[in-house]
Amino acid sequence: MERTVKLKIRRQDAPHLSQTRRWEEFEVPWQPRMNVISALMEIRKNPVTTKGEKVAPVVWESVCLEEVCGSCTMLVNGRVRQACTAMVDSIAGKGETIQLEPMTKFTVVRDLLVDRSRVFGDLKKVHAWIQLDGTHELGPGPRQSQENQEEAYPLSRCMTCGCCLEACPQINDSSSFIGPAAINQVRLFNLRPSGKMHAAERLEALMGEDGVAGCGKAQNCVEVCPKEIPLVDSIAVVARQTTKHMLFGWLFK
Ligand code: SF4
Ligand code: SF4
Ligand code: FES
Repeated sequence: MERTVKLKIRRQDAPHLSQTRRWEEFEVPWQPRMNVISALMEIRKNPVTTKGEKVAPVVWESVCLEEVCGSCTMLVNGRVRQACTAMVDSIAGKGETIQLEPMTKFTVVRDLLVDRSRVFGDLKKVHAWIQLDGTHELGPGPRQSQENQEEAYPLSRCMTCGCCLEACPQINDSSSFIGPAAINQVRLFNLRPSGKMHAAERLEALMGEDGVAGCGKAQNCVEVCPKEIPLVDSIAVVARQTTKHMLFGWLFK
């Protein structure tokens, strides 16, 4: 008998139509080296459920297919991760059903596609870039030492996937905590020699209730970050920077 892949997928027709939330099950032919995205592509070719109902194709997002863009992040068997690197043989090697759901901390756009714009909005809030605009030649920037580069590189691997926000218990409807990804970017940009000049602005954005103080130190974020970014260390570093800035920042104004 032909080997198949079974999928149970959470569907929702539109952001405001939570009453359309439902599970649908599909079975598609297995192929070697298949991942969850290739299984979803098989469903799209012929979107018929195991009950024989013809349905609308499942909606999801994916771009790079190599765990670089973060767009395919979803709950695979209840665990937040990238669907493109979820290999069918390792998660359902014995033919188990693979369960797919959208992340729960973001608004569902449709089916498995969520609106991750909050992650990008948070980067804007903390000024997570280096401001080098000018109408004249600015010359070469300050040199970055090897040690500085080595400390910065692991922090720079964030792909704004949202896994850490999904796993963080402090991100919920009754909290405005910004979450670990943006705090880590503050550490990164404050560390770079050319980013230091806007360090105060970044720290000030994190000094309110929604800033570093909102972290409950549960460490779930580190466990789920696919890029193994030392998020709890970043939160501790930035917490120290904000305290110092609160106490002595006025000296430098
Ligand atoms: S350590 Fe802080 S940011 Fe990380 S999951 Fe816990 S509460 Fe959230
Ligand atoms: S810090 Fe890690 S888990 Fe969080 S958004 Fe960046 S890559 Fe994803
Ligand atoms: S498609 Fe880019 S991370 Fe999966």
